[in-house]
Amino acid sequence: MVRIAVLVSGGGTNLEALLEAEESGRIPSGRIELVVADRPSYALERAARHGREAVLIERKKIGMKLFSSELVDVLRNHGIDMVILAGFLSILPPSVIDQYRDRIINIHPSLIPSFCGKGFYGLKVHEAALERGVKVTGATVHLVNEIPDGGRILIQKAVAVLPGDSPETLQRRVMEEAEWKILPEAAQMIAKEIEDESR
Ligand code: GRF
Repeated sequence: MVRIAVLVSGGGTNLEALLEAEESGRIPSGRIELVVADRPSYALERAARHGREAVLIERKKIGMKLFSSELVDVLRNHGIDMVILAGFLSILPPSVIDQYRDRIINIHPSLIPSFCGKGFYGLKVHEAALERGVKVTGATVHLVNEIPDGGRILIQKAVAVLPGDSPETLQRRVMEEAEWKILPEAAQMIAKEIEDESR
C-alpha cells in the first residue's frame, strides 16, 4: 500500500475529493496517511474530519529554509512514498523534489501549457482565461519537477467557458467537472506505478 501525503494551502476541496475517492475504493493502491499545510487552512479541518494526521508548518513564520527541512523530516518520519500537491501555494523545495523524483503530482486549473507558470494560480488562472476569451479551459494533473507546472502531463480534462462566466463561476465549474475527477484518477495511476515497481 503506497503511503501518500497531501500538501495543502487553502479550502481543501481537492483534498476532500481525494479522501472521498480513497474511502470509496477508487484509489486502491494508496492511502492518504498525512496532510501538511503551509499556512492555517480549512483543509486541515477536512483532514481531521476524515481522521487523518494533519501537520501545520507555517512557511511564512519560519522561513523557507526551516520549512524545507521540517517538510522533509515529516515526510520521512511518516514513511511517505508519494506526494500530492492539492491547492498548495508554496514552491516545493528542491530537496523534496529530489527525494520524490517522479512521485509528486500537482493539479493545475488550466489546460497546460495555457495559463500556467509563474504567477498563474487560483483565480488568476481563470481571470487570464476569460481575458483571453478562450471557449474551452480545464484542468491538468502533471508530475512536479524544478520547472513550475513543467513536469510530464498525466491527465487533462476540458471544461466549457460559458457566456457570462465570472472567474468565480468558471473556477467552480473547473473544480467540479475536472479537478475533483482527474486528481484522484492520477493519484491511483501513480500509486499503481509505484506499487508495481516495488513488486
Ligand atoms: C483552486 O484554485 C484550485 O483550482 C487549485 O487550488 C485552489 C484551491 O483548491 N488547484 P482547494 O480547494 O484548496 O483544493
